[in-house]
Amino acid sequence: MELEAKHSFHGELSVPGDKSISHRGIMFGAISNGLTEVSNFLQGADCLSTISCFRQLGISIENDGCKVLVHGKGLHGLTAPSQILNVGNSGTTLRLISGILAGQPFQSTLDGDASIRKRPMKRIFTPLSEMGAWFQCWDSSHFPKQQQKTNSDCAPFTIQGGNTKHIHYHSPIASAQVKSAVLLAGLYGDGITKVTEPVLSRNHTELMLAGFGADILSTDTTAAIRPEPKLEGQSIHVPGDISSAAYFIALGLIHPHAEILIQNTGINPTRSGILQAAIAMGGKLTLLNQRTVSGEPVADILVSSSNLHGTVIEGNMIPTLIDELPILAVMAAFAEGTTIIKDAQELKVKESDRIATVTENLKAMGGDITPTPDGMVIKGHTPLHGAQIKTYGDHRIAMSFAIAGLNAQGKTTFDEEGCVTVSYPSFYEDIERLAR
Ligand code: S3P
Repeated sequence: MELEAKHSFHGELSVPGDKSISHRGIMFGAISNGLTEVSNFLQGADCLSTISCFRQLGISIENDGCKVLVHGKGLHGLTAPSQILNVGNSGTTLRLISGILAGQPFQSTLDGDASIRKRPMKRIFTPLSEMGAWFQCWDSSHFPKQQQKTNSDCAPFTIQGGNTKHIHYHSPIASAQVKSAVLLAGLYGDGITKVTEPVLSRNHTELMLAGFGADILSTDTTAAIRPEPKLEGQSIHVPGDISSAAYFIALGLIHPHAEILIQNTGINPTRSGILQAAIAMGGKLTLLNQRTVSGEPVADILVSSSNLHGTVIEGNMIPTLIDELPILAVMAAFAEGTTIIKDAQELKVKESDRIATVTENLKAMGGDITPTPDGMVIKGHTPLHGAQIKTYGDHRIAMSFAIAGLNAQGKTTFDEEGCVTVSYPSFYEDIERLAR
């Protein structure tokens, strides 16, 4: 794959369904009674991993390539898997399913790819152990032939659930994955389970679980859930993923001849910090046709060529745009002045260490970027040139630097561009469609 500058980008597109919401549709459908229909489901590798794990837990799931039908068996209908549950590259699958498995009276073993095996799991082991679950990590180099215990707090690991106790967990990090794991385990608890976060993270779990019939209450940064609800299957229409739309927002704003309409995009305020950041940078961005779909706010987003300037991205805003920071760093490289990103140490434990991988690749293209312990400082308007991008198998690094490459002098190539299938299988085709 080789990318280089194009004359202009014009037109409309609908990005694929939201990854977070697609995962949750399968999971919550599986533990509800009756049929759940998930339309505009994201057919990306991560969400397909969630489908395959729940099939192994005894749930029948039909997937026609767009719509997914989940034949739920209720809160207590899952059965012990006969093989290892493989989550692939998906941290969301691993952490949320662990919450559900913490409530099951059987053992399961979970594993994933090389990136998953490095991602920290102590953040869920701590609260879920407090709720009564038991965990054992394995040495992946000997796994599964010769199982050896390890202290690494990473996958692969075995979990034994059952006899779940309620807790009030004060999470040290703002993480929707941690919050969701605890709330899902709380469905099986012996009283009301609460999670308090330092800053509110995305609230798709709270919104969607309430839609399935859970008794869940959110007050400021605390979510509380009552155990043993009667969950009923739902029809869910998944909005377009704002994290995928972010690449086209950036492209429309950076490129000197661009106007792009991104239709049907989720704009949940716990997720849409990219919109505020883009506006703060001087981006020409308009929300059209705002509406609510399956309990989630949705809009069409119109972006056009803009003269961007630097900004500061920090504090409470960080969880609302955590996955968009690599593309925001690329936008900053095309902006006048300096952009500072801080309070974002979570970037280090994503699919790659995104402080390191953004820095390495932006420098390779001639950008002026300094990594910091909790973010980065980018001086904009240094002319970027094409380079060989090292993705580290991280879909968001590949897509962010594809957008940089489309606005740089010369050719940009990738050591491995296929990783975009994790969240946006048609990414390169969609770029081609808009290019003139
Ligand atoms: C996700 C939550 C975020 C995000 C991830 C998806 C989710 O992780 O980075 O891509 O669906 O709950 P944290 O909330 O753990 O930071």
